[in-house]
Amino acid sequence: MSRFRDALVAAMTLFVGRLARPRESRGRIVAAGPTDPLAELAVLGLLGLASAAAVAFVVLYAVGESTQYLGLSLGLSLLFVGAALVVTGRRLVATEELEEDYPPAGHVDDQRRVEQILEESGDRLTRRRLFKLGLLGTGGALGLALLTPALSLGPFFQTRYYLGTPWRRGRRLVDENGRPWRADDIERDDFYTAFPESANEEELGSPLVLVRLAPRNLRLPPKLKGYDAGGIVAYSKICTHAGCAIAMYRAPLFLPSEPRPALVCPCHYSTFDPAAGGTVLFGPAGRPLPMLPIEVDARGFLRAKGNFDGPVGPSWWGVRMSRANP
Ligand code: FES
Repeated sequence: MSRFRDALVAAMTLFVGRLARPRESRGRIVAAGPTDPLAELAVLGLLGLASAAAVAFVVLYAVGESTQYLGLSLGLSLLFVGAALVVTGRRLVATEELEEDYPPAGHVDDQRRVEQILEESGDRLTRRRLFKLGLLGTGGALGLALLTPALSLGPFFQTRYYLGTPWRRGRRLVDENGRPWRADDIERDDFYTAFPESANEEELGSPLVLVRLAPRNLRLPPKLKGYDAGGIVAYSKICTHAGCAIAMYRAPLFLPSEPRPALVCPCHYSTFDPAAGGTVLFGPAGRPLPMLPIEVDARGFLRAKGNFDGPVGPSWWGVRMSRANP
């Protein structure tokens, strides 16, 4: 930490000192060393390779390549930067062995001394401008590569795509064979999967879980009142944690002493309360399961009354501010 502080003070001193006054000529402090054009070329080449590997990371990320290639490109970039620093330290920067630390630069003369040491330590470089460009380019490319994964935090543009579902008012609920579900088919202590009739089952917003509960046990929040059809509730089957399918239902056999009914995601055990609007009872999910309003038509079939009360699928940065598209 103190080394970092010293380096920071030295850099500030150099910068401020340069602005404040022209350089005076005085005797050297750091012994002049030989230039090493070959080492300079090697460092510039390594910086170029580091930049190329960092840019490759961004490109591989954009085309959706595997994480192995992403790790390889980023690792190579850091490796080349490390190699460039090692060559610079060993061959291009003057080094000296000190018995003790430099005294704190309290006096103006001490500060000038530090400035001079810093300048003279790097004056073996014959291509300073090229070096600065190389460092800037590599820093920029690496910075871009490190920022790129932030795109995975969620969609930034065109979020409508993530909010649309095939559910519309009047659309029937069907099973995986396309057979419409009747309200009478849905029994207590079991759960069922449903899809929208005549729509793409593969869409994220398509699959539902259906559960029948005793109407007196429902505790739906006010905004979800009327979403059930005589105790039958319908939720998105896609877990709001990371998008696995809700595949387990806990149906208590003796309500007074057993835990309440719950829909459970097998991936990380997020547990949702079907009687209370899909609220999270346990696990890493950060928001309730989206609920679909349903009704029973004159012929006894289950139909949607509209779209979900919230966006389906795993959570992303703006999901709480959004509503499923009507
Ligand atoms: S994906 Fe469901 S709990 Fe993690």
